[in-house]
Amino acid sequence: MRKLLAAPLGLLGAGAATFAYASLIERNWFMLRRHEVPVLKPGARPVKVLHLSDAHLTPGRTRMIRWVRALDALEPDLVINTGDSISHPDAIGPFLELLGPLLDRPGVFVYGSNDMFAPTFKNPARYMWRTSQKDYKKRGGTPNLPYLELGAALKASGWLDLNNHMGRLKIADLDIEFAGINDSHINLDRYDAIAGPVDPRADLTIGVMHSPEPRNLDRFAADGYRLLLAGHTHGGQVCVPFYGALATNCGIDRPRVKGLHRWNASWLNVSAGLGTSPMAPFRFCCPPEATLLTLTPPP
Ligand SMILES: [Fe+2]
Repeated sequence: MRKLLAAPLGLLGAGAATFAYASLIERNWFMLRRHEVPVLKPGARPVKVLHLSDAHLTPGRTRMIRWVRALDALEPDLVINTGDSISHPDAIGPFLELLGPLLDRPGVFVYGSNDMFAPTFKNPARYMWRTSQKDYKKRGGTPNLPYLELGAALKASGWLDLNNHMGRLKIADLDIEFAGINDSHINLDRYDAIAGPVDPRADLTIGVMHSPEPRNLDRFAADGYRLLLAGHTHGGQVCVPFYGALATNCGIDRPRVKGLHRWNASWLNVSAGLGTSPMAPFRFCCPPEATLLTLTPPP
């Protein structure tokens, strides 16, 4: 009898230990990913860009709040937030606390679907056969999270709202042209509102979006944006050792589910994000992250 039970009990124990690791340890194991990106014109001095995404913040996530605030010590010249910042109606105060001194730096942002719609329980395994886009279509209705308040607070700190908008900032002697779109995952992207070739007088051009949907990446790249930033994928969130992400939850290919890659003539950074939906509070082989991109002239 003991022998018969040993295998199933062993499996159960291993499963419980893996879940405990994924939800208690790796989910709070914040990492800073660093890359150099040669997108500046010859002779320009390097510029540091801090890319944040997918915090999915709920009140009480003090470890994440402390870790992100401390990133101000990196002295980024620019902060870019690619959405899914909150997952709770009372998370705006905590999210501003998380940014803390970073709010005094130049910044830009777009929304993700989770800034607008509170999380509901779904079977996490469904990502294996389809994206979560259909869940939003089924739910319909109006947003039930205070994303406009979030946007107003960021704009009050001087950050640019790039949801289907363009903008311009002077940062460290550079004239930077930005264009961004609202979340394509729930069909709020309006690329036509920002379409057109980049201004050749700009020193740098950056395209910002939540979900790295190929149809939009192609248009940003064709219009001449040198650097593209996105989040949304969570890097797969639950990955298989030596294989990687099982799904991307959007149209991008699996090898580009996170990290710095080329997209045609542009550079694309996809953030694996800082958080998870509170309904799926675990990460495996895919730790939460922020990215520090040091933009440089060509080598
Ligand atoms: Fe997200």
